[in-house]
Formats: sequence, structure tokens, C-alpha cells
Amino acid sequence: MLTATNYPSAVFVEKSGIEICLVGDSLAMEMLHHCKAVARGAKSPFLVADMPFGSYEMGSVDAVKNAIRFIKEANMEAVKLEGGIEIAETIQKITSVGIPVMGHVGLTPQRRTSLGGFRVQGNTAKKALKLLEDAKALQEAGCFAIVLEAIPEMVAAYTTKNLKIPTIGIGAGVHTSGQVLVQQDMLGIFDRFVPRFCKQYASLDNTIVEALRSYRDEVKTGVFPTKSHCYPMAEIELEKFIE
Ligand code: KIV
Ligand code: NA
Repeated sequence: MLTATNYPSAVFVEKSGIEICLVGDSLAMEMLHHCKAVARGAKSPFLVADMPFGSYEMGSVDAVKNAIRFIKEANMEAVKLEGGIEIAETIQKITSVGIPVMGHVGLTPQRRTSLGGFRVQGNTAKKALKLLEDAKALQEAGCFAIVLEAIPEMVAAYTTKNLKIPTIGIGAGVHTSGQVLVQQDMLGIFDRFVPRFCKQYASLDNTIVEALRSYRDEVKTGVFPTKSHCYPMAEIELEKFIE
């Protein structure tokens, strides 16, 4: 699974053959608008939309209504909600209308402040047990998969072993059923905090800035555009025009 937030990044996921495309709310903006763009670009991956903070905490009726918008208006195929047992009933309501739900426990970025920032979760026996119970409640509520974020490797392994549904890890070690990364982080495009568990497969940040600088310089010095970037006109037509 990999995130995408707009048409070009969705096309990257499409072309790479990655199976699931998550419109992550690490984006934190106009989610429906971005989902529509991603759906145009990523045709083959299964499309999951992060429900934004505030769109599912005020009761099941509200949550179901908002989940439906992602399916009907934004062409998504599933939604993702952050939280454990406290949102199990809400998830049950969403799955009961036929919308697949992906869960998300451990470090849940929407609650980063009450979790004490971006830091490891489930790292005491008591916290790990609570996490396992949360994951089981989500499974019971009908989730088809659960993201495990920023938890010790063995807690993720044990949780995965004790669930029937697949887990997708981010900062949770190698023993989860699948992995997820934020596309711009793994490409090395920095516009947000990059956690230690994100491997950078490229440093596109420098490449992009260098490209933009070259463009700017070439425009200022008249190097770009050249004849090859221009449209031709028949000599005879040009003469008539100049006359
Ligand atoms: O918001 C996001 O991109 C996510 C992934 C890190 C799982 O939730
Ligand atoms: Na998210």
C-alpha cells in the first residue's frame, strides 16, 4: 500500500503495480477533492480514503453519512478510521451499510497531541495488551484490515498472529501482513516531519528544486524555449500575415 494525494502521484502508484492506494489525511486538506483526483489516476489499486478528524467522532449517523460521501462523490472503495474500541460501534455501522473499513491503531496521527506527539505506542505490556484488544474489537466490528503504526516489532507480530484479518504496518517491523509508507516521504519530498521508520528510496526534493531552478534560469537567459518547443507556420502564411 502507498499513499497518493493527487493525479500525478496516483499515476505513479498505478504504474508501479502497488495493490492498495491510500489517500492519507497526512494531506489534511480538502479530502473529497483529492480523492476524486486520485480515483482518476489510480484505476487498478484498491482505493482507501482516510476519514478526516471530525468526520466520524460525533456519532454513527454522522460517520455513515460522511463515509457514503467518499464512496458516492469521490469514487473511493473503502474508508479508514483511526482509533480502537471506542469507535468500534461506529465502524460496525459503516460496514453494515456495505462500506469496507480499514482500522488504524498504535500511533494515530489525528490524536498525536493526546498521545504526547509522534512517538512509539504499545511499548509496555499493558499498552500492548490494550492495543491487541482494540485490534480485536475492530476485527469484530467488521474491518477488513488494520494499520499498525509505530509499535514495537514483536507487538505487531503477536497482534498479526492473533487476528484473522491482515495488518498493514508502518513503523511496526517486518512481521505485519503488509506495509504502508507516505509516498512523498519515501520519495524524499519533504513538506512534513519524516519519522525514523520511513525509508527514503529517492531524494526527489533536491532533484525537483534543481529542475525548477534550471527552468527559471533558462527562462531568464532566453535558453528556454528553443525552436523545438515552438509551433511552425508555413512561410507563405507568415508572409501574408506580416503584410
Ligand atoms: O495519513 C496517512 O498517510 C496515513 C498512513 C501513514 C497510514 O494514515
Ligand atoms: Na492518516
